[in-house]
Amino acid sequence: MSKSTNISWHDSIITKTERQTKNKHKSAILWFTGLSGAGKSTITVELERKLYQLGIYTYRLDGDNIRHGLNKNLGFSPEDRTENIRRIGEVAKLFVDAGVLTLTAFISPYREDRNQVRALVAEREFIEVYVRCSLEACEHRDSKGLYQKARSGEITGFTGIDAPYEEPINPELTIDTEEQSLDEAVQQVINYLLENEYLN
Ligand code: PPS
Repeated sequence: MSKSTNISWHDSIITKTERQTKNKHKSAILWFTGLSGAGKSTITVELERKLYQLGIYTYRLDGDNIRHGLNKNLGFSPEDRTENIRRIGEVAKLFVDAGVLTLTAFISPYREDRNQVRALVAEREFIEVYVRCSLEACEHRDSKGLYQKARSGEITGFTGIDAPYEEPINPELTIDTEEQSLDEAVQQVINYLLENEYLN
């Protein structure tokens, strides 16, 4: 792929701060990471519903969905996962610029890739949420039947089986879906947003 040249940046007249003031809340990326089946999608769907009810402008970017469109040309090799996360990071940054509280649900198995996204935005604009669940429990749930396929060799390079997952070292939030209910998890995130003045 050739790189773009002879391009220049055009600032908008409306600033991010103005958009946030109008929306009456801060914008940021809530970056949910965790194994397949840990509960990332379930939590972000319910969290978005609650935030929407509170009048918050939100948008949810989800692994399976994004891979149907924007990232349909990417697979699950380490390089493709890195490119997947890089693109999502750039998209999420645009949503933050638009004043939107952005929820992302990607395995994002590599610490370095997540840190690259963190580096794209201001310090407070990246909130890493580790959706923790043991491999055993995820495999037991196997809601999509993918672990079974991975164990039988039908799928190779499956996260947790024969591809790595690097746990966050110092996430802003950790949700343990073996211990916490869905409601508790959602409330934990909302409390964080209130306590840290993302929401009024
Ligand atoms: S990544 O690693 O962040 O690029 O993955 P992501 O974009 O989140 O996509 C994960 C979903 O893809 C399905 N799937 C796989 N996951 C992991 N490894 C392999 N090899 C794989 N193949 C397909 C799976 O449904 C993941 O969805 P979740 O919601 O995480 O279960």
